[in-house]
Amino acid sequence: MSRQGPGEPAGAPVSRPGPRPVPQLDAIGGYVMGRPSAAEVERGAKLSSNENPYGPSPLGIAAAVAALPGVNRYPAEPGPLRERIAVAHGVSSAHVITCAGSDEVIHLVCSVYLEPGRRMILGSPPYGIHRIAGQLSGADLMRVPLVDFVHDLPAMAAAARPGDVIAVTNPHNPTGTAVTPEALRDLLVAVPRECVVLVDEAYHEYMDDDVRVSAVSMLDLHPGLVVSRTFSKAYGLAGLRVGYGIGQPETLEPMDRVRMPANVNAVGMAAAMAALDDREHVDRSVRMTREGRDRLAAACRRLGLEHVPSQTNFMLVRDRDGWPEALAAEGIVVRPGANLGVPDWHRVTIGTPDQMDRVIAILERVAG
Ligand SMILES: Cc1ncc(COP(=O)(O)O)c(C=O)c1O
Repeated sequence: MSRQGPGEPAGAPVSRPGPRPVPQLDAIGGYVMGRPSAAEVERGAKLSSNENPYGPSPLGIAAAVAALPGVNRYPAEPGPLRERIAVAHGVSSAHVITCAGSDEVIHLVCSVYLEPGRRMILGSPPYGIHRIAGQLSGADLMRVPLVDFVHDLPAMAAAARPGDVIAVTNPHNPTGTAVTPEALRDLLVAVPRECVVLVDEAYHEYMDDDVRVSAVSMLDLHPGLVVSRTFSKAYGLAGLRVGYGIGQPETLEPMDRVRMPANVNAVGMAAAMAALDDREHVDRSVRMTREGRDRLAAACRRLGLEHVPSQTNFMLVRDRDGWPEALAAEGIVVRPGANLGVPDWHRVTIGTPDQMDRVIAILERVAG
């Protein structure tokens, strides 16, 4: 069981006298954010961080602006936002925890449910924050290789012991692939009741209608199921850092007890509530993204360029003929797979129609 995966940077060595981080820090390479600089964004397109290229919801912006004069005060209690989210999912607000991005849900799960001797079971390659949060808790990582880029849920279930956290990213980052609802249900009934199953649904909205089943509908199958969601992707609010978890009240309560008291900022809270009412913006973002994804997949098929069919707002495309460098030369920045655990691939965020025109034209020029 290795602590460091392919392409993950090693932790920084400490050589001078001074405080020593906890020992598990030695093995943790930090999270590498998608580039680029502002100048590159201006010149081309930032297709490296799976952001929404259609901007924030206009209703969300208006609500955020309206909240600004009140920011001398600490944020209000998160009750109204939780209630609004609960209604959207058909659960009670006790089933909801709101956080500073869904990454905070992941950190809270790991800090509350992991310790040395317990294990974080995750796909290999994993979503980077699952790895970092698991390692930080002092737990051992148990990496279960993806099969054909998809989580091997039977192998993950077979490995699970009481006290483990099992992280399933659905659809997965960096591969864009989804597991079937049947396989997820099988895992939930198979693993010990004393596990937490964290299903990260950051990209749920982008899934095709015929396969889009949320694990929220499976809450009754396992007491430790926690489903994380975000306003960062389809809702276009990544910069405001709002996400949430849905689970049984008894599972979420310890997480709620130890979270930072005002973890969701006042502006983000106001914007998220308004964005939930802005169906038009979400629907348009999702529809346009799916169209761009289909166009990119079709172009790859035409060019014989290996790619992984995606259920998200990004796609993994195999390196060939220097296409990533050709994009970079025109200011279009995509994410190298080397630091995502998929060397020889690049991850392309689906951009606007104009951006996809440019990407596809460059692919045709260099890989055609
Ligand atoms: C799988 C996955 N989960 C969570 C996140 C983080 O989301 P948030 O902005 O809500 O912290 C990302 C962001 O890229 C992601 O890819």
